[in-house]
Amino acid sequence: MCKKCFVTTPIYYASGTPQLGNSYSTVACDVFARYHRQSNHETFYLTGMDEHGQKIEEKAKEAGLKPQDFVDGIAAKAKAVWKDLDISYDYFIRTTDENHVKTVQQIFERLLKQDDIYLGSYSGAYCVSCETFFTKTQLNEDGTCPDCGKPTKIVSEEAYFLRLSKYQDRLLKYIKDHPDFIMPETRKNEVVSFIESGLDDLCVSRTSFKWGIPVLSNPKHVVYVWIDALTNYISALGYLQEDDQKFKDYWLSGVNTYHVIGKDILRFHAVYWPIMLMALDLPLNFKLIAHGWILARDGKMSKSRGNAVYPNYLYDRYGSDSVRYYLVKEMPLGNDGLFSYDRFIERYNNDLVNDYGNLVSRTFSMVDKYFNSIIPANYKETAFDKNLEDKISEVIAEVNKAFTEFRLQDAVEKTWELIRRANKYIDETTPWSLVKDENRKDELASVMYHLIEVIRIATVLASPYLVKTSKIVLDALNVNSNTFVDLKFGHDYKNHQLHKIEHLFDRLDVSKELAYFSTLNETKEVKEEVKEINEISIEDFSKVELKVGVVLECKKHENADKLLVSKIKIGNEVRQIVSGIAKYYQPEEFVGKKVIVVTNLKKAIIRGVESNGMVLCAEDGKNLEIVTVKDAESGASVR
Ligand code: MSP
Repeated sequence: MCKKCFVTTPIYYASGTPQLGNSYSTVACDVFARYHRQSNHETFYLTGMDEHGQKIEEKAKEAGLKPQDFVDGIAAKAKAVWKDLDISYDYFIRTTDENHVKTVQQIFERLLKQDDIYLGSYSGAYCVSCETFFTKTQLNEDGTCPDCGKPTKIVSEEAYFLRLSKYQDRLLKYIKDHPDFIMPETRKNEVVSFIESGLDDLCVSRTSFKWGIPVLSNPKHVVYVWIDALTNYISALGYLQEDDQKFKDYWLSGVNTYHVIGKDILRFHAVYWPIMLMALDLPLNFKLIAHGWILARDGKMSKSRGNAVYPNYLYDRYGSDSVRYYLVKEMPLGNDGLFSYDRFIERYNNDLVNDYGNLVSRTFSMVDKYFNSIIPANYKETAFDKNLEDKISEVIAEVNKAFTEFRLQDAVEKTWELIRRANKYIDETTPWSLVKDENRKDELASVMYHLIEVIRIATVLASPYLVKTSKIVLDALNVNSNTFVDLKFGHDYKNHQLHKIEHLFDRLDVSKELAYFSTLNETKEVKEEVKEINEISIEDFSKVELKVGVVLECKKHENADKLLVSKIKIGNEVRQIVSGIAKYYQPEEFVGKKVIVVTNLKKAIIRGVESNGMVLCAEDGKNLEIVTVKDAESGASVR
């Protein structure tokens, strides 16, 4: 029977491009969603972007952009990363979407009306970075934020509060009555003791900044970003909107709903969100799956710690499947996983090249050589076949169970047990000696058939994470199904012809790859930041007036070694321009060049000399070169 599933990943916080750590939730959830789809469950996978709050307001300001323009840029980048990582979401919600905003506002008003939200005043230690107030006992000893370690500041303001205390006992009872509400068990225990220690009412509005959803009845307040963000799970389905069919189908009808989250945002999902739903009289029909963190060499990987690895460093060079593979393979449910470049290379070489890639290429070339690429249908079993067949059945059952329970790492490990078992089977059956004996051709056929079956089955089992590779292999096998439904040994190939297989994974040279990674750490991370801050619109760019000019005269600045002072003819006009290029050009080398000048720059006095414009140069950190043109006339516009 077709089950329905609603799978969500936390909406990504729009403060910068996703790094590998916060890509984990999205990749893991994608693997989970694909597994359900391939099991014939009607699956709706929701992701999106969390775009409000003080931190974003500040980031936008730093970048010289309006907050909306800033988040539009980040949304485009995040979507590009998700596309490159083969994330198969069904809907991408943004908390600046009009429908979402309206739903949040209506929820707030309703809770206000029924007195679950009330107006009070707040004074406490607030972490801008985490958008969270902390009580004294929660803060680090030095008063810094317990989550990110940054300084907090005391904020006092009139604010609305959500009555968490009213729902505390009901929530505790719910958690106790539903043992699988929070997975894994350790996280559930954390939540229970947090609730048992007593819930203070939650401050759910802010007046100290503007970039948020205004409270309808009191617009000087904006809704607390977590109340805003958590609502996405139902606003995306159309809750309180004209078209709420999806909400009826995926929330009210009690389908399997999974919120996949990182452990750092457990409290918001296991306490605030259920209480919001209780207050709204909506069913709590979801399961919470809290995964650990991807750790870098010095702790949790995050942009603010400066240890972030960006997914494109990896997928640009090794393909998205290797990144997806690494993430699911290295993260045990309930624990943290480690990312390091050498470990990444090791997994790539050992698991993808040696185990899987070799099994596929050896088998394809043997079937080609011994049977002209036709999978033999008739065969006589060898002494090793039964054991392999049992292993296949065991692995299929265990992988299904592991996926269902979100033990993604176990799903990978079981699949690799089968792959390694098949490589061993080649050594046991020694097809290269069977081929020499005419009387054992039927056994050789059996070996080929069994190997092809292992490849088909292992490839389907791995297809939720090896998205591209599995397609290549299943196409080459001439099998066009990756379904988990009725997956079992014994496919009827009926003299089925294999297609040529492309090479799957190239062995990596460890020292060469480590050298590549070391250049990334120094330069690419920095570029990434600069890229984000410097993004401008075409309208902004068109404000800059660029023209071709000819350098008529040039001399050294009298009071500054690094500066040259030039007279440059631009059309009919001659301007004096000061440039910081004396280290790279002698004045006489500069004369006669046709350069590009920014002509609408405000005049400036540089070390006592007036400068009216700027000459464009290219600089790579070591060298500097003036940008010149050959044929364009002085005064020509540059676009
Ligand atoms: N915007 C909130 C979520 C709101 S959901 C109603 C948020 N966004 S986030 O971008 O900071 O994090 C997105 C996801 O990445 C979260 O599940 C978070 O736990 C996860 N991770 C962030 N850094 C991580 C690692 N280093 N490792 C694994 N996951 C981590 O939180």
